[in-house]
Amino acid sequence: RTQKRAYHEKVIDHYENPRNVGSFPKGDLDVGIGLVGAPACGDVMKLCIKVSADGIIEDVRFKTFGCGSAIASSSYMTERVKGMTLEAAGAIKNTEIAKELSLPPVKLHCSMLAEDAIKAAIRDFKSKRDAAVAKGQAPK
Ligand code: FES
Ligand code: FES
Repeated sequence: RTQKRAYHEKVIDHYENPRNVGSFPKGDLDVGIGLVGAPACGDVMKLCIKVSADGIIEDVRFKTFGCGSAIASSSYMTERVKGMTLEAAGAIKNTEIAKELSLPPVKLHCSMLAEDAIKAAIRDFKSKRDAAVAKGQAPK
């Protein structure tokens, strides 16, 4: 390969074949939605999780309006959190994503978007579930 690439090939792969694109219905009680923006550039990421009764992330979708690194970070995040507990998913650091995708320092905030988005989705799910439990609409 003679030409120097601006993006690592893992970023290109996720950018060209993004995994788990889409969303889930906002009103569903087993769904949590995280919508976050990056002040540095104005990019936006939406991450939706579907959570089983025992607190496992069963399915994930994302939509990202942003740069290649942001799209790759969210795509990678969806693969990473599927099957995880909420606790484990909420503990993922953006630096792990940046390392996996070999993001340069200037692109760190793009991976931060993915960390913020999963945390926001988990918060949204928990507050929705707590409200449903309080109203007697959900078990536990
Ligand atoms: Fe425009 Fe990230 S700054 S895509
Ligand atoms: Fe802003 Fe990538 S440049 S999210």
